[in-house]
Amino acid sequence: MKVSVIGTGYVGLVSGVCLAELGHTVFCVDVDTVKIDQINQGITPIHEKGLADLLKKNVGSRLTATADLERAVHETELSLIAVGTPFDGQEIDLSYIRHVAEKIGDALKSKSAYHVVVVKSTVVPGTTDTVVTPLLESASGKKAGPDFGVGMNPEFLREGEAVVDFMSPDRIVLGACDTRSLSVMQALYAPFESVDILSTNSKTAEMIKYTANSLLATMISFSNEVGNLCKKTGKVDVTEVMQGVHLDKRLSPIIDNGRRIVPSFTTYIEAGCGFGGSCFPKDVKALISYGKSLGEPMGLLDAVIKVNQAQPRQIIAMLEKHFPSLDGVHITILGLAFKPETDDMRESPAIPVIQTLLNRGAQLCAFDPVAKDEAMKLFGEDTIQYAKTLGDALAQPQAVVLLTRWDAFKDLARLIQPMKPQPLVIDGRRMLDKNAFDRYEGIGM
Ligand code: UDX
Ligand code: UDX
Repeated sequence: MKVSVIGTGYVGLVSGVCLAELGHTVFCVDVDTVKIDQINQGITPIHEKGLADLLKKNVGSRLTATADLERAVHETELSLIAVGTPFDGQEIDLSYIRHVAEKIGDALKSKSAYHVVVVKSTVVPGTTDTVVTPLLESASGKKAGPDFGVGMNPEFLREGEAVVDFMSPDRIVLGACDTRSLSVMQALYAPFESVDILSTNSKTAEMIKYTANSLLATMISFSNEVGNLCKKTGKVDVTEVMQGVHLDKRLSPIIDNGRRIVPSFTTYIEAGCGFGGSCFPKDVKALISYGKSLGEPMGLLDAVIKVNQAQPRQIIAMLEKHFPSLDGVHITILGLAFKPETDDMRESPAIPVIQTLLNRGAQLCAFDPVAKDEAMKLFGEDTIQYAKTLGDALAQPQAVVLLTRWDAFKDLARLIQPMKPQPLVIDGRRMLDKNAFDRYEGIGM
């Protein structure tokens, strides 16, 4: 099938490259000509495991990047919209979606063949039907249904695992305005014969996406609230509490002779220094704002955001317990990205932690396997010392603060134990052995 993907960001580029790998002919469209040139040279503008190899394999044959949206629409049967849908502080920002919908509508005006437009970006329920479709119709002078198809196909890609998540999906959700649009969308995913495909309307597909992300975010804030209570309770470690909770056979079913299935979502029921990324915060806030616009109070999700926004302060409180003044204190920050295996610092808890410590006059040294450049864009090159290696980062800290669960930090104890005196270790992700250090503080204990 010939497909155009509009927007070559974390979602659009992964989707385009994987669809090419599956045998489709793909046009990746973007307004950013730097990205287009990079893609056509086989260079990925983003850091995603496995993406570069697949791009190199397909670019120039099954995959082409272009700024010419009209040509891409004319030469393909289906267009996926994967442009940004940021949260503007009040509500979801649909300006990019609107802009692209109009451009696609313009292209449809002069296209006689049937074409299906599918929204892949995360948009609040109703957007495909009440924003995208009317814009397509007004710009093309044609009618959705008889003249062209419209649908919604949410992405469930985790950053750092996006290629695996696309190539081995756990579900495919297809929202469509009619059966003809649906059949074209089904053809797109024909290679995934054994995957559960849920076919529904566009509004339900949009709601599934928000609900999925909001549930995961809620589990994290729930775990963090329990963790903060455990810390106040004294002699209770949230890690052990959650181990006890995870053993509930409804969470980790006992299959036979004591063996259990431990579902991976249990790792979202663990306390840490808060969730980040370009999805959870944005999506939960957009759903709250959407719900409130319909008169729903959205009290639970409001609390999920409030708990998450306060969580980085737990790190500061643990430091203040040992350093009444943070002015001039040498602190090493381990982990800057919002999660391991990515350089993305969008909404990372490391941002408020670093901002507060800099405001308090702390002398900071930071190490992250890949997010250094992103951190430099945020904090400049000389406000923080950026260590090239983990060893360099441990040269002389009075305190070490772990904020991202990079594997590289697993055996931190081996590096810390020989130090005299040992620095204070603050474990923001509870990934370390609390008994392996002279002075250890952790979230939720
Ligand atoms: C975006 C949304 O943020 C996410 O909610 C949705 O699920 C998928 O799309 P992401 O891929 O991270 O995720 O967006 P971003 O990294 O901002 O990339 C969007 C791309 O679209 C950029 O390369 C931008 O140049 C491009 N774009 C934007 C266009 O090509 N045309 C436009 O009109 C606007
Ligand atoms: C998320 C959803 O997982 C994905 O399905 C959706 O398509 C986009 O949003 P992403 O934000 O990229 O993906 O990564 P994820 O690994 O879910 O991390 C989100 C947040 O949850 C991070 O802040 C991370 O620290 C936290 N997290 C992640 C946990 O607390 N525990 C985990 O086991 C994994």
